[in-house]
Amino acid sequence: MAIYNIVKDEKEGLREKSKIVSKITPNIKKLIDNMLETMYDAKGVGLAAPQVGVLKRVIVIDVGEGPLALINPEIVEASGEETDYEGCLSFPGLIGEVTRKAWVKVKGLDRDGKTITVEGEGLLARALQHEIDHLEGILFIDRAKNLRRQD
Ligand code: NI
Repeated sequence: MAIYNIVKDEKEGLREKSKIVSKITPNIKKLIDNMLETMYDAKGVGLAAPQVGVLKRVIVIDVGEGPLALINPEIVEASGEETDYEGCLSFPGLIGEVTRKAWVKVKGLDRDGKTITVEGEGLLARALQHEIDHLEGILFIDRAKNLRRQD
């Protein structure tokens, strides 16, 4: 396994739309494993492939319930609203208040290519929306109010 460099600010494709993964290859599995290792190393709760310079629709999340990897994730249902502080591994030290859906249902493929559905509220719902935004080139700074440095 390997730890990737995390792309910072708005550089190297962080503003681009990522491509659908049409085939689960060994390279995609390796990407997922390395993204998880990179996320844990950076003490984050989520990471999207464009943040490691790969413009493919792959996200990883761990909000304390174990590792979750999703390929081609799509929000299929959502409800409620919740505002909370949020940050991003591509913007170290920066936080802002972001209003997101309070509950989401996300459909995607797991690392074996099996279709899975993930439902979550709270931090999991927030992380899913944040990481899926990355796949569209949308960053939390676009949605955040009261952006500030956390000292
Ligand atoms: Ni982020």
